Amino acid sequence: GRTLTVGVLGAGTVGTQVIRLLAEQADDFTVRSGARLEVTGVAVRDTRARRDPAVPRDLLTDDATAVATSNDIVIELIGGIEPARTLILAALKSGASVITGNKALIAAHGPQLYAAAAAAGTDFYYEAAVAGAVPVVYALRESMAGDRVTSVLGIVNGTTNYILDEMTTKGLSFADALATAQELGYAEADPTADVDGLDAAAKCAIIASLAFHTRVGLDDVTVEGIRDITAEDIREAHASGCEVKLLAVAQRLGPGAGSGSQGVSTTGDTGGTSGISVRVHPALVPTDHPLASVHGAFNAVLVEAESAGRLMFYGQGAGGAPTASAVLSDVVAAAAHRVYGGQAPRESSYAALPVLGPEAA
Ligand code: HSE
Repeated sequence: GRTLTVGVLGAGTVGTQVIRLLAEQADDFTVRSGARLEVTGVAVRDTRARRDPAVPRDLLTDDATAVATSNDIVIELIGGIEPARTLILAALKSGASVITGNKALIAAHGPQLYAAAAAAGTDFYYEAAVAGAVPVVYALRESMAGDRVTSVLGIVNGTTNYILDEMTTKGLSFADALATAQELGYAEADPTADVDGLDAAAKCAIIASLAFHTRVGLDDVTVEGIRDITAEDIREAHASGCEVKLLAVAQRLGPGAGSGSQGVSTTGDTGGTSGISVRVHPALVPTDHPLASVHGAFNAVLVEAESAGRLMFYGQGAGGAPTASAVLSDVVAAAAHRVYGGQAPRESSYAALPVLGPEAA
């Protein structure tokens, strides 16, 4: 049978699980993808650091460019903009199928990456960038392609959802709850990205781009985090029958857009302007609303579409193994394309939809 080589950039929590699962379930992956998947290199900053035994020492290298440009499939799990962007562009140029979980990079440079993939005639996939194991990217891009999405409401950051939960159920302070989230490995290396809503904002930009077939960048998202929420705010919310949740909201506004509010926030008068609103902020969610029962590091995305009505996607949005599940689904798709033909959806044409400012929502 055929063998496809796989290069992994970064061996943190997710990369380690990806490498472990590819080795442990090698035969299963051959059946699913049509080829034997062989990891040939794992690029890390420090080849001498202590690592999980699942990562074979002889695969480690600090030459990320070599790993990016000498494999059939390249998995980028370094995070951040550089050097991830340069490495992905080099990998695509070399003809590799590229898989990433890098939401910040896609929210900032998605169009450039799609264009590079199209020019190279190869695949670019990022299921792991939104809500970990929950198949949100696939759902919005493919499952909903026959429908007109009117709104998406999501709890897409496990760290902040966990923190708000701990503050609610244990009466912890914000700082103590954050420390626990970091110990459990949910938080990003720099937790400000979680706490100030930027991680959720990057995911919201990706969600809005997919849901409305348009281009939404990080700068288009209005963001407010949870840093200023107090235990007292949460008690008051409870007293009025609500949970406090950090929501990512992407909705159509204006004539013919439907209410889009799904029972959480109210849509104001847009003065007849059509467009979309894309934002992240703490919201009061009534306890009987489906998003109110999403606890801990779980994520949920509630999609409303004209024909389908409401759909809810729910599952583990952070952590090594759940995120690895999403990465590996992309690896299987990319490998199958290389074996049997076909390509990832191109995302080359866009609807021109103005992003309306916060005053419209
Ligand atoms: N820090 C992120 C979260 C990890 O808490 O949801 C997944 O992107």
